[in-house]
Amino acid sequence: MKGLVDKETCIGCENCVNECAEVFEMEDDGLAVAKDIELSGDSDLLDCATRAMDSCPVEAITIN
Ligand code: F3S
Repeated sequence: MKGLVDKETCIGCENCVNECAEVFEMEDDGLAVAKDIELSGDSDLLDCATRAMDSCPVEAITIN
């Protein structure tokens, strides 16, 4: 499982990075991206990524 940010939807609010900088980061375009990190097998990382997903006001984040 990995995080994914839909850049068409992201408004750059940075909640995801504030919630889980281990998985999400801001790019030069002012929008977030999910790092290429495998989340399954690390429950702390998956929890953190899930909190970030839940914190996004425009639901731009998916975890699959
Ligand atoms: Fe964008 Fe949502 Fe993160 S708006 S910066 S993906 S919290």
